[in-house]
Amino acid sequence: MTTVLTGITTTGTPHLGNYVGAIKPAILRSQDEAMNSYFFLADFHAMIKCWEPERIAQSTKEIAATWLALGLDTDKAIFYRQSDIPEIPELTWLLTCMTSKGLMNRAHAYKAAVAENTDQGEDDPDKGITMGLFSYPVLMAADILMFNANEVPVGKDQTQHLEMARDIGARFNHHFGEHFTMPKTIVDDNVAILPGLDGRKMSKSYNNTIPLWLTEKQLRKHIMKIKTNSLEPGEPKDPNDSFVFDIYKAFATEQQVNEMKTEFANGIAWGTAKQQLFEMVNTELKAAREKYHDLMENPDIIEQELQKGAVKARAFASPFLARLKEAVGIRPIK
Ligand code: TYM
Repeated sequence: MTTVLTGITTTGTPHLGNYVGAIKPAILRSQDEAMNSYFFLADFHAMIKCWEPERIAQSTKEIAATWLALGLDTDKAIFYRQSDIPEIPELTWLLTCMTSKGLMNRAHAYKAAVAENTDQGEDDPDKGITMGLFSYPVLMAADILMFNANEVPVGKDQTQHLEMARDIGARFNHHFGEHFTMPKTIVDDNVAILPGLDGRKMSKSYNNTIPLWLTEKQLRKHIMKIKTNSLEPGEPKDPNDSFVFDIYKAFATEQQVNEMKTEFANGIAWGTAKQQLFEMVNTELKAAREKYHDLMENPDIIEQELQKGAVKARAFASPFLARLKEAVGIRPIK
C-alpha cells in the first residue's frame, strides 16, 4: 500500500494555486484503490504567520469545505485537522532534538526573512522572527513522518521542506532504527508554480490570488485582470511567456494545450484567450461551487467529518508514537 499525504496552511481563502498544486492531484491519487491517503488542515502552521483568531477559524472552515466540495471520499481518505492530533507536536519535539540548527538556517522562508531585515538596514537580522518560523520545517517533517507517507503532492515551493523532512527522518532512523519511510515529493510539471494575477507565484502573501469560490461574474473579472504584454490581436504571441497560458495549461488536456499554442501563433487577442481560460476554469468548478456554499451553511457536517478523520488518524499515530518513544528511551521503568 502506498501512503499519500498533503496539507494546506489555514491562513486564507483557498485559491487556484492550492487547487492545482495540491488538492486536485491529491484527490485524484486518493481514488486509486492501492492508496492510503492522509489530507489535513495545517492549523498549527497557520499560527506561525497569523495571530488573528477569526481569520484562522474562517480559513480552516473554508479549506475543509473545499476538500469536501471537490469530492474527497472521507470513508477512504483520512481527512483531519493537524491540531486534533496531539501526537504531531509530540513527535515535533523528538525531531527538534535531532535537527541541527544549521539545517534550519538554510530554510528558504527563514533566509528570506533575514534578507528582508538586512535590506531594511535592521541591526538585528533576526528581528521579528519567531521560533515558530525558524523551526517550521520540523513541524512539517512531523506531519509527514508521523504517517509514514511515501508520496507528498505539493507545489514546487514546498520541495525544500520535503528534502528537510527526509534529512530529519534519516538522522532519526540512523540513531534509533528504521522507523520512518522516506517521503517522495510529487510535483506536477504542468503546474509546478501557478502564477497569480501579477505573474509572481499565486500566493495569499502577495495578494494576487484567484480565489476558488468566486461567483462566475467575479471569476471572469479576476481572469480578465491577469497581466499580459501589449501585443495586439493578430500579432503572434509566445506561450512560453504568458501567465494566461501558464494557468490555461494547468487546467487543459494535452490536446487543448496544443490547440491553444496554435491560437497563440495565430495571434489570438488577449481578451479571447482570457475568455477561453475563464470558461475552462468555470466548467471545472461549477458543480463543486454549489456544494461548497451548502457546506459553508452547514458547519456541523464539516466538523463531524474532521472528528471522524481525527479518530482514524490517531488510531495510527498513537501506537506509532509509543514505539518511537520506546525507541528513544522514553518508556515505563522495568
Ligand atoms: P500552503 O498552504 O502555502 O499551500 C498549500 C499547497 O498549495 C500549493 N500551492 C501552490 N501550488 C502551485 N502554485 C501555487 N501558486 C501555489 N500556492 C500554493 C503548495 O505548494 C502546497 O502544496 N507548508 C505547507 C503546508 C503543509 C504541508 C505539510 C504540505 C504543512 N505540513 C505536510 C505537505 C505535507 C504550506 O504552507 O502550504
